[in-house]
Amino acid sequence: MTQGAPKAATLASALRHASGLGLARLDAQMLLLLALGRTPHDRAWLLAHDGDALDAATHTRFDAALQRRLHGEPLAYITGHQEFYGLDLQVDARVLCPRADTETLVDWALELLPPQARVVDLGTGSGAIALAIKHGRPDVKMHARDFSADALAVAQANAQRLELEVEFSQGSWLDGVTGPFDAIVSNPPYIAAADPHLAALTHEPLEALASGNDGLDDLRAIIRQAPACLVPGRWLLLEHGYDQALAVCKLLRAAGFADVQSRADLAGIARCSGGRWPDRTPA
Ligand SMILES: C[S@@+](CC[C@H](N)C(=O)[O-])C[C@H]1O[C@@H](n2cnc3c(N)ncnc32)[C@H](O)[C@@H]1O
Repeated sequence: MTQGAPKAATLASALRHASGLGLARLDAQMLLLLALGRTPHDRAWLLAHDGDALDAATHTRFDAALQRRLHGEPLAYITGHQEFYGLDLQVDARVLCPRADTETLVDWALELLPPQARVVDLGTGSGAIALAIKHGRPDVKMHARDFSADALAVAQANAQRLELEVEFSQGSWLDGVTGPFDAIVSNPPYIAAADPHLAALTHEPLEALASGNDGLDDLRAIIRQAPACLVPGRWLLLEHGYDQALAVCKLLRAAGFADVQSRADLAGIARCSGGRWPDRTPA
């Protein structure tokens, strides 16, 4: 017996059916719009047409999408889209779905970039951070790196579609990179290997999420490499886990960064930390 929406349903009864199976109303609306071939912005249309009949082909598409969502696949992978900082990004299982929390890092970077800044985004994934910075500040010379060729393909396709000029390279963090950069930004993997939250993220690439026993291996590597690639007086900005601000600030200070500080996300939780590489030229 299928768990899908009953045949000969209306749009409203299909949505009720999905809610009855435990799906959030917004998710159900997005999946139904996808099955109908309409854009995610058509929620008002859906409300106005909730008495319309669901034809068999739409029903089949809705049912398939519903099953994927009920099995825990992120909505963005099913629809193929995720909005980030006002940009429509195409995403799939090759990249982490960009999170709204990461907009805090972009806000911070945009505040402190000098004119014509050279910026690198490490572990760019879908390209979210690099593309948002380039969109907000077209004068920036933006470079984006990732270890994963699959992720780079997604990021490059997004850059091309959005007509944003970003230079891409494949490699591990700053290995072989000389810079110098006016800002290094990164949202690296930061979940501890044994963290129970990882079990709930089975659809996203593990290499985008997990980072050693304490979740800090990649943050340590970036903090170690960054000083050699930063213009003195410029910034390294990092996203990290909800409980890692103190540890990351400690690592930044130990590496010699000045003005070390953290920024809170919309929920008031310190989710980004950064520091300025000191200008050591004598006054
Ligand atoms: C948490 S995801 C962030 C993706 C994207 N920046 C965002 O904010 O949505 C981390 C990214 O780092 C990449 N990554 C993991 N290890 C890496 C390494 N050693 N060097 C470069 N990138 C790496 C992963 O492929 C993944 O795309």
